[in-house]
Amino acid sequence: MSINFNRASLLAAAVLCFAAPLVHAVDEEAAKSLARQNNCFKCHAIDKDKDGPAWKKVAEKYKGKADAEAHLINHVTSGEKAKFPDGHEEEHKIVKTSPPKDAAQVKNLVDWILSL
Ligand code: HEC
Repeated sequence: MSINFNRASLLAAAVLCFAAPLVHAVDEEAAKSLARQNNCFKCHAIDKDKDGPAWKKVAEKYKGKADAEAHLINHVTSGEKAKFPDGHEEEHKIVKTSPPKDAAQVKNLVDWILSL
């Protein structure tokens, strides 16, 4: 038997893990402080576009989409290409947490952005 961890099954696994504490409230202060520590606000603001889109716009764009959380977690952890307003592309910033790769902190940040 071969086990094939393709992208879809990994995403599905991520969704399952992250969907468990559904009623868990967003910790806004923790989210903002993680964003500050990571210099996210160099390129983003809550309600105006900078180099990156306003996070309220991002929340709007993903409203009602079931895979929004998994998608954005991937966006801020994978270093996927991000397109800048001047047309150039570079790898998007990867969130650093302490302790490293703390999925709960990343999830909290993404949930906060989606709640804006
Ligand atoms: C150097 C500038 C820069 C920094 C720093 C930055 N971003 Fe971005 N971000 C961008 C750009 C540019 C885009 C637009 C990407 C695209 O549309 O291809 C983007 C897009 C996004 C999106 C929307 C993705 C989507 O699928 O619509 C989110 C959410 C986001 N960033 C979160 C963050 C977080 C959280 C941080 C801090 C860890 C951060 N960004 C740091 C430039 C930046």
